[in-house]
Amino acid sequence: MDRIAITGGAPLAGTIPIYGAKNSALKLQAAALLSPEPLVLENMPDLADTRFMAQLLASLGVEVAWIKEARTLRLHAADIASTIAPYDQVRKMRASFNVLGPLLARVGHATVSLPGGCAIGARPVDLHLKAFEAMGADIHIDRGYVKAAALRGLKGAEIEFPFVSVGATEHAMLAAVLADGETVLKNAAREPEIADLAECLNKMGARIEGAGSHEISIRGVASLKGARHAVVADRIETGTYALAAAAATGDVLLEGANAHHLDALWGVMRAAGVDVQEEPRGVRVRRNGRRVAPVDFETEPYPGFPTDLQAQTMALLCLADGRSRIRETIFENRFMHAPELTRLGAQIAVHGNEAVVTGVEHLIGAPVMATDLRASVSLVIAGLAAQGETVVNRVYHLDRGFERLEAKLADCGARIERLKEPRE
Ligand code: EPZ
Repeated sequence: MDRIAITGGAPLAGTIPIYGAKNSALKLQAAALLSPEPLVLENMPDLADTRFMAQLLASLGVEVAWIKEARTLRLHAADIASTIAPYDQVRKMRASFNVLGPLLARVGHATVSLPGGCAIGARPVDLHLKAFEAMGADIHIDRGYVKAAALRGLKGAEIEFPFVSVGATEHAMLAAVLADGETVLKNAAREPEIADLAECLNKMGARIEGAGSHEISIRGVASLKGARHAVVADRIETGTYALAAAAATGDVLLEGANAHHLDALWGVMRAAGVDVQEEPRGVRVRRNGRRVAPVDFETEPYPGFPTDLQAQTMALLCLADGRSRIRETIFENRFMHAPELTRLGAQIAVHGNEAVVTGVEHLIGAPVMATDLRASVSLVIAGLAAQGETVVNRVYHLDRGFERLEAKLADCGARIERLKEPRE
């Protein structure tokens, strides 16, 4: 199993290109199922997860063509050959569950494995299923599978989510575009990936208004056509490299980043004493050797502080001159990086959904183990700032969501390499 070795202490200087957002790309890929015409996705991140989603779509009958040098994926669902997403595929990647809504909308039925829990929490899909039921679908759970049918088509409905869910908002949109009549989603999630999905669906002929606000209205249409769409810049990748530059010290331009999607992060980073500037080509992050200040923050749905940047921010605050409090409000088990950061000398006490981080002057490199995607990259960030060598095990988590991570960091002066063979 691959590992990543980092010799910490090298400041970062240079330019890091920001790619398309994984969490938008996966839903855009699922949208290809809605039309018999091709959907061409530009600025596609080439990741284990997006490759995996493409394979799943191929198994459903979608013609898949990667044009690697153009960072483009062409998906053509002329005919749907299968409406079944088996356990092995959904278990490996939860976003596979997102094929359910489009299949139900286009073909009238689908059988998709329930995703089950994962390392960061239970992550049920009850809100997704309630939305489909409100649109008139019959839903049965049978031996771990969701069997959904709407043989006479889905009907527009008013759906008020009891709390904000990114996945349920997107999934309801993916089904409602082909429903008969108007669907209104209340208490909808407002993440930039939702506006990106709506923009792409509208290019395909959908009639969606209000995406990015609390209330989204979708007038169903009889069919969708092909389209070409560029995936929105990855705000989590942007924030991750911003925090890496802050932790390692240096001066890095995050090229192609959309500064406005990360106001909550910039607030925390500036309070910590990091210099963040929007520039015409992206966002510049600078920090000199002075210690960062402690900051308290809590994760929230967008536009609040993203849970997907909590671990990376904790890595930076491990070096703060004082005590920071971090509250995780989205997922119930998202502090698994804390014991691993402690192995590098960090002082972190976790009580329920709150972590108290008492900054130390130096972290010291050590072997550590990644448990999920964002936790893994927080260990890379800590390793960049630590003295000596850090080896991050279970790198496959990183490959799910960060394309060319070592190359991008090494181009800015980081001493980082992938170890292909295990070293005992
Ligand atoms: C998306 O997950 C992202 N994944 C996550 O990124 C991200 O952390 C999360 O949104 C929050 O921003 C993808 O886009 C593929 P939710 P999602 O539905 O849609 C509960 C990463 O590292 N809930 O907004 O699954 C749920 O358990 C990943 O890239 C229900 O109870 O998140 C959670 O506590 C990790 N019932 C909360 O709502 C439901 O039916 C918010 O989850 C749905 C969700």
